[in-house]
Amino acid sequence: MSEQPATPPGTHEKREHWSGQTAFILAAIGSAVGLGNIWRFPGQAYENGGGAFMIPYVIALLTAGIPILFLENAIGHRFRGSAPLAMRRVARRAEGVGWFHVAICFVIGLYYTVIIGWAVSYFFFSFNLDYAEDPATFFARDFLQLGEPGTVSLTFVPSVLIPLVAVWVVTIVILALGLHNGVERLNVVGIPLLVVTFGILVVRALMLDGAAEGVEALFTPDFSALRDPQVWIAAYGQVFFSLSLAYGVMLTYASYRRRRSNITAPGLVVAFGNSSFEILAGVGVFATLGFLAHQQGIAVADLEGLTGVQLSFITFPTVIAQMPGGQIFGALFFGSLVVAGLTSLISVLQAVSSALQDKFGWHPRGSAVAVGIVSAVLSVIGFGTTTGLFLLDVVDQWSNQLGIVAGAVAMIAASLWFAGRSSELQRHLAAVSTLRPGRGWLILVNVVALLLLSMFVQKTTTLINDGYEGYPGWYLAVFGWGTLAFLLAAALAMPLLRWRRNIARFHVWPTRAQLGLPDHPHDEYEPEGRPR
Ligand code: PFF
Repeated sequence: MSEQPATPPGTHEKREHWSGQTAFILAAIGSAVGLGNIWRFPGQAYENGGGAFMIPYVIALLTAGIPILFLENAIGHRFRGSAPLAMRRVARRAEGVGWFHVAICFVIGLYYTVIIGWAVSYFFFSFNLDYAEDPATFFARDFLQLGEPGTVSLTFVPSVLIPLVAVWVVTIVILALGLHNGVERLNVVGIPLLVVTFGILVVRALMLDGAAEGVEALFTPDFSALRDPQVWIAAYGQVFFSLSLAYGVMLTYASYRRRRSNITAPGLVVAFGNSSFEILAGVGVFATLGFLAHQQGIAVADLEGLTGVQLSFITFPTVIAQMPGGQIFGALFFGSLVVAGLTSLISVLQAVSSALQDKFGWHPRGSAVAVGIVSAVLSVIGFGTTTGLFLLDVVDQWSNQLGIVAGAVAMIAASLWFAGRSSELQRHLAAVSTLRPGRGWLILVNVVALLLLSMFVQKTTTLINDGYEGYPGWYLAVFGWGTLAFLLAAALAMPLLRWRRNIARFHVWPTRAQLGLPDHPHDEYEPEGRPR
């Protein structure tokens, strides 16, 4: 496929479009760069032996992250729809896979907002260093007013609730403004802003006493850890979460690109841009931790409390309180979390809203407002209470650790193994892109699927046998396995509802003939582009 096939058909679908390639790249980076980069990556790196993590991480990026990103982009771009519509065009019976992804996005939106809400509060707390005296107690007792783990309470916590509602209002407004005026603008302003604020933060962190020891801890390789499968699983998990892969988000974003668009080269920009930011965040966080270790007179490896929530809301405030100019540092850190989080949150909700528009023919604005309001209400009821943190912990574990792996395998299995679209997708990418993936790409995707399948089995067995973090069995049954049941129910039930538009009114381009392939038995549209 050295030549681009001529003439994309005049489009009669009223799909929204990015204003150009840069807008797409910024939006995709906006989705990828999120809480996962700033707080999850350093925590994962730390838990998995610091320097030991970098090698598996880079290998995971090259062998799984980039190949799956290409796959999702190819499906979205070729079949021009949200996850359910695009998967339905891959094969009639694959629609449910798309709904599974949409349901995960819906669930994630419910609690991702909550963390952004906390960051909003901490942004303001930073100016007076309200949390300085005893950050751990402040976070659990004064701020979250935590109840008992493994219980359900409907006592709302105003300090959590008010910022949460504010985040929802902002989110709904941005979504309702539409792809171009809302989502795109947020990213075009937000991503450069984020890079600047976070850049200042990292430079400041590097000037702290002990910073060098911290950074050294991140980059000193520990080759023995490469023999530990857990380190590899963590690296692959981090790459998936961080690149927003297998959520149907990258698929949806690619569906808003024009037909004649280079897919792979911008994909590489997104993947390397995301990882660069991640490593930048790692440097900033580890430099800061180096300072903390220096203050306490211990080694970086002996610090405690460095995973997600604790890292951002307890350890960082501890450092901020001890550092000259802590107020500004705190505001920059939590402000960055808010911006990074918001651009990711918007992407998951857009994936849900887009699916409902496609299925029910809803107007983008109506769909955005409906999704926003329903999510906001559920999010407030579930997570605005004294037990919200525990619910978040459990729902995240099941949807993000288990659901996402299942969703990724299902997407690959449906499109490549059952519908036999391997050559079509590979040739599609090659026909429209400057960088042309070959057979090697397909081999990688297939191997990754097998790897993910084994991760899924292993994770499920562990959760069944050992439970999770000591929560009572009934709690995990209802909120953990219940989450998975909800995802499955969505995947099974939604395809039963009727499409409110004629999905066969669709031109595929380049046609299979242009790609040198025979007709596909599952195609429901005219191969030559004439609607049936
Ligand atoms: N990639 C985001 C992060 O690193 O925080 C999280 C995320 C956003 C995951 C969007 C999934 C998603 F669809």
